[in-house]
Amino acid sequence: MKKSSAWRRAGTAGDPRLGQFATPPLLARLIISRFRKVSGNGNGKVIDLGCGPGALASAFLEQHSETSATLVDIDSIGAKFAQLDARCNFVQRSVLKKNFADRMRKEYGEFSYAISNPPFISFSGPSLSYIEDHFGNIQAKSYRAELAFAIQAISCLSSQGQAAIFMPLKALKYGKDNAVLKVFLNSFGLHEVLRLPAKAFRSAEVEAAAFIFDKARPRRKARYYTVEEGLTVTYNGWFDAADLSSLLCSSKSGADENAVTLTALGTSARRGRHSANELEKISESFFHTTSFRKHSSQEVCFPSGMFKNDASLVMAEPGDILIPRVGRCLDNAAIVVEGVRPITDCVFKIASPDHLRSRLWQFISSEKGIMWRRSLAGGSCAKFIPKRALMCATLPVDIALSNY
Ligand SMILES: C[S@@+](CC[C@H](N)C(=O)[O-])C[C@H]1O[C@@H](n2cnc3c(N)ncnc32)[C@H](O)[C@@H]1O
Repeated sequence: MKKSSAWRRAGTAGDPRLGQFATPPLLARLIISRFRKVSGNGNGKVIDLGCGPGALASAFLEQHSETSATLVDIDSIGAKFAQLDARCNFVQRSVLKKNFADRMRKEYGEFSYAISNPPFISFSGPSLSYIEDHFGNIQAKSYRAELAFAIQAISCLSSQGQAAIFMPLKALKYGKDNAVLKVFLNSFGLHEVLRLPAKAFRSAEVEAAAFIFDKARPRRKARYYTVEEGLTVTYNGWFDAADLSSLLCSSKSGADENAVTLTALGTSARRGRHSANELEKISESFFHTTSFRKHSSQEVCFPSGMFKNDASLVMAEPGDILIPRVGRCLDNAAIVVEGVRPITDCVFKIASPDHLRSRLWQFISSEKGIMWRRSLAGGSCAKFIPKRALMCATLPVDIALSNY
């Protein structure tokens, strides 16, 4: 057996230079919890492709204790994990080999679940040309390893199997006309996409998402969620390949580090934690998307009121700029002048440093600001503004200048 060189050098966080973005335990639990509970889903066995030190397998076995796991890695690191748990066996082998899935199915049978956090890296060589069989021939000089791992993971499954696979967003750009997302939906049964925060994988930043597949159910659309730091998950809607591509691959999701953005200006944006229906039960009054219309001016004074001392309420306070996060009319905006109110999960409150507030408000409430906000919205029917787009979109440079 080869030495576990890369992992031994890098430690449990992995080595980002080798595309190793190790899964932190909480993220592993979150992703495993997305599997649908189905009775009669084969034998319940799981295969972990590129298992590393076993973060995903460990989370899986925690939630599915009655099952067994086959861990595969090119590095012998997984052997250590497998030795400690009688439900596991370890196979040291390359996942990239064309006949990998056939061989695994012959030796170990079909699997009910596949999990994988593949190396985020590209490889060259004719042996990976099977990627073209799935996603179209573009005569690439190099191939994304993650796409090969996804093909192998789906091919190891029974016809009812489910898979959870991490993927950097740049891997989705392979091929023409959203080929990867279309194949994920139509052939692999993609049903959920969870867009991850930039620092999901500990200290190394990477734009990535988790893709949850249900092989028996090819579909036209998948549910799109955004995961924030702290791992709160927000549902944003049900989207087809074109919409998913614009949400995941357009430049508005990635910031130029020198650009003037809400993040760069030191502002923060938060949405409420409760829906309007939930807030109705716990608070006499609150600010929702429909409240913009109720205030005759964009400057809002809330009458005084007592609110439950509830840490889960997100309060709009004097100085906060309020904008709708979702809804038919995203053009509204308001600034709080007096009083406080809880906000719903459909409203963002933007808190900015004192010296920037009036410039920012001038811009956000202007015609240009309305166009800017419209440009951030995703989704074809149910429009919404993802927090990442809001925080990372470029603003007019003069907002940052003191002589504005
Ligand atoms: C990002 S790490 C993931 C580790 C672990 N699954 C986790 O989630 O933290 C990717 C793993 O893929 C393994 N790997 C890289 N190339 C491989 C290949 N061709 N076949 C199998 N495993 C490979 C690496 O050794 C590494 O352990």
